[in-house]
Amino acid sequence: MELPNKRPENMARINTKELADAFIAEQVKEIRAQVGDKKVLLALSGGVDSSVVAALLIKAIGKQLVCVHVNHGLMRKGESEQVIEVFGKELDANLIYVDATDRFLDLLAGVAEPEKKRKIIGGEFIKVFDEEASKLKGISFLAQGTIYPDILESDGVKAHHNVGGLPEDMEFELVEPVRLLYKDEVRVVGEALGLPHAMVYRQPFPGPGLGVRCLGAITRDRLHALREADAILREEFDKNGLAGKVWQYFIAVPDFKSVGVRDGKRYEGWPAIIRAVNTTDAMSATIEEIPYALLHHITARITAEVDGINRVLLDLTPKPIGTIEWE
Ligand code: XMP
Repeated sequence: MELPNKRPENMARINTKELADAFIAEQVKEIRAQVGDKKVLLALSGGVDSSVVAALLIKAIGKQLVCVHVNHGLMRKGESEQVIEVFGKELDANLIYVDATDRFLDLLAGVAEPEKKRKIIGGEFIKVFDEEASKLKGISFLAQGTIYPDILESDGVKAHHNVGGLPEDMEFELVEPVRLLYKDEVRVVGEALGLPHAMVYRQPFPGPGLGVRCLGAITRDRLHALREADAILREEFDKNGLAGKVWQYFIAVPDFKSVGVRDGKRYEGWPAIIRAVNTTDAMSATIEEIPYALLHHITARITAEVDGINRVLLDLTPKPIGTIEWE
């Protein structure tokens, strides 16, 4: 079946629960008509787009959908657990969880160059997904969380942004139920489908995950420190009303140490760098002015609670000249 790739000019922007419900009802019908009694495979990252597609397909075809969640070991704290909780348990999906942490981290050991790291993560992701797909029998369709801006920008802009894409020799027909929607519409549909608010409105997170924030050659101890520090930053932004206001915020941890002092003893540790930016299109970005009292509190928590971190720094650089990620 040929799927239309152009948004009809008279299509209303989906911005209410009623419009979302109508869209969902229409897609459920279309998906059933397209898929029949066949099976559909979906790479479920836990990001907004793939999560909404998963929920939509579960509603339409239930267990005929097979979701594969690959944990590359570079997820933020609690993310894979949330995918298992929401999709595996609450929505009772057919979910295959692959913990590929060791495979990724072993391959990345000693690799410091950002582009090389990205290639390894993207390439290995395809391999793991491909291996899982080939273990499954009778899959006819591949579902994808393609959204309208991806189609509009298919000159390659997002291509390099997504984790490697999928193997070219996979011969599946595509199911792309949100391909004519903008991001804000995907979110409204996600909420109407009953997905958790935090999942539907989560900040953008790059495909290579913490791999682009654990700078230089990734080590397990520094990655762990980064994940814990990032969880504290997110928790404090949540508690203090910044999570819904700031476009993207995270910690980066470079691979150098400085001298510090803890419990009266010399304590060498890495710095945790806070980056919090606002933007509409990620092409340029401004800096969020985090209240100083909160910065002090976050610094106190990170340095007290995270092993290996002995300083907290704030990145005040807009984009340009700094990119959003550090890499
Ligand atoms: P930069 O660092 O180029 O980032 O200013 C712009 C936005 O893109 C995100 N980003 C990615 N998103 N896969 C993604 O899905 C990626 O590989 C990737 N790399 C960067 C970044 O987080 C920021 O929001």
